[in-house]
Amino acid sequence: MYRSHTCGELRESDINKMVTLSGWVQTIRDKGFVIWVDLRDRYGITQLVFDEDRSFSVLLEQARSLGREFVIQVSGNVIERASKNPNIPTGTIEILVTELIVLNESLLPPFTIEDKTDGGEDIRMKYRYLDIRRNPVKNNLIFRSKVAMEVRKYLSEQGFIEVETPYLIKSTPEGARDFVVPSRMNKGQFYALPQSPQTFKQLLMVGGMDKYFQIVKCFRDEDLRADRQPEFTQIDCEMAFVGQEDILNAFEGLTKHLLKEIKGVDYTNAFPRMTYDDAMATYGNDKPDIRFGMEFGELNAVTQHKDFGVFNKAELVIGIAVPEANSYTRKEIDKLVDWVKRPQVGALGMIYSRCNDDGTYKSSVDKFYDQDDLAKWAGITGAKPGDLICVLSGDKNRVRTQLSALRMELAERLGLRDPEEFAPLWIVDFPLLELDEETGHYHAMHHPFTSPKPGQLGLLDSDPGAVKANAYDLVLNGNEIGGGSIRIHDKDLQSTMFKHLGFTPEEAKAQFGFLMDAFQYGAPPHGGIAFGLDRLVAILGGQETIRDFIAFPKNNSGRDVMIDAPAPIDEEQLKELNLKLDL
Ligand code: AMO
Repeated sequence: MYRSHTCGELRESDINKMVTLSGWVQTIRDKGFVIWVDLRDRYGITQLVFDEDRSFSVLLEQARSLGREFVIQVSGNVIERASKNPNIPTGTIEILVTELIVLNESLLPPFTIEDKTDGGEDIRMKYRYLDIRRNPVKNNLIFRSKVAMEVRKYLSEQGFIEVETPYLIKSTPEGARDFVVPSRMNKGQFYALPQSPQTFKQLLMVGGMDKYFQIVKCFRDEDLRADRQPEFTQIDCEMAFVGQEDILNAFEGLTKHLLKEIKGVDYTNAFPRMTYDDAMATYGNDKPDIRFGMEFGELNAVTQHKDFGVFNKAELVIGIAVPEANSYTRKEIDKLVDWVKRPQVGALGMIYSRCNDDGTYKSSVDKFYDQDDLAKWAGITGAKPGDLICVLSGDKNRVRTQLSALRMELAERLGLRDPEEFAPLWIVDFPLLELDEETGHYHAMHHPFTSPKPGQLGLLDSDPGAVKANAYDLVLNGNEIGGGSIRIHDKDLQSTMFKHLGFTPEEAKAQFGFLMDAFQYGAPPHGGIAFGLDRLVAILGGQETIRDFIAFPKNNSGRDVMIDAPAPIDEEQLKELNLKLDL
């Protein structure tokens, strides 16, 4: 028996018990006549004591030879601690050790296994198994497991069946590049790893499964960011005989359940909804953080024809009222202007108007705009005395994105993004198609299986960009945590969609013939959604970097620096796969 208790378990009520514990040596304090060792496992820390009066000297010598992260097993008596530690649950007791066995020695770890470690990101990723011993990472993984359990529990209770779908498949278009896997048995042919189980879950609906879910890995070869990993996990769901309203209600239910069970937050109201067009006009973003205001005010009507050429020639002039920021010094504002001019944001400049406490205004364009004009700016942006109005102008889409970036940056600086406040929001009525400015072609904004809103098919030829889809996203605190749609379940409509997306009938058949075939055998109306589990867990955990909630994540170059992947394969393997490298 390696242990009778864990290192987080013993309390005062256990005093005088003989116990056996196993774990890792966290710290050793050697005072000569007495040695204390903190023993750690997943559950906590227990203090061990070896002393001259009560322990055999050989035991003291043994304890003295221990090093950090040695794996040991000890037996001994639970005794009351002289100086108690109120900060840990086991802080009132210690173990007077009578037997010590070293189960395994350890090299000196390359960074301290403490909550606040001296190890940087790179070294921690290389030795991720040591990083996982630290509380912040360990607790995140435990937290993730708890969320996943609650998801399974809730969806099972609602009648959803978890079905696994294959990983070696043909491409599913979700907007990213595929990771491909060469087939040895089928020379010159490749599997694609699923960007999502999209087509399979639709086929499960044709198969009559009715309510499907799966906590599933998805693979996308795309540029990485804090909220993106090349392999990530979805809570993937699909339902038959449903419309958009049914899906929104079902998954609002799941989200409320998680907020309650995981965070103790009772969100009783219906989640607010906003159309895509409104979100873009009001926040410049299809995943707005609505925990704070700073909504966009359109200033075109009150800024033009005043001799200020920059605004006169702009397609859009928009501003936000930054709360209680009129005290920003000239230097601070200049820095803000530099911030919006960085290439990552790309604005050409920024105009501001301070809303003085006495109700007057002082702007950077006083030469063109008088107090009455500036009062109108304040009215439109909702600025109050004490606020600072920041105004950007230019091409509509670009300027919205720029002001959205500024809004988020200022909210961050002003501490308006409280991680313990949860603001869910449905974004609905997405456009069906999106124009790729580089190629001039339209592609599906969500994916090609998304159905257009009823009655809008006629627009597909005349004004494709105006067609709206039965597609929705769930946003939580400014992050897209889920997205889905009501699908096309009719073969002809699906063919029409493929045609508008630039597929020839032959290409559509080659890539998606299996789905169109299935639609000929009684496909029920169906729809679904997929949540990004990594994002959901990170946000519920009060953070936004999903890497911190993944046991073995990739770095920003898509590398696993611990196992050193990706890596070349040997000649023999290449030959077997009929592959030649051209580097
Ligand atoms: P979508 O592409 O919107 O929809 O993905 C669903 C959710 O998955 C998360 N997500 C990611 N998380 C981490 N890293 C990534 N690289 C990444 N990409 C996406 C997001 C996103 O909202 N098949 C459809 C769903 C459907 O229509 O039912 C799909 O995959 O939180």
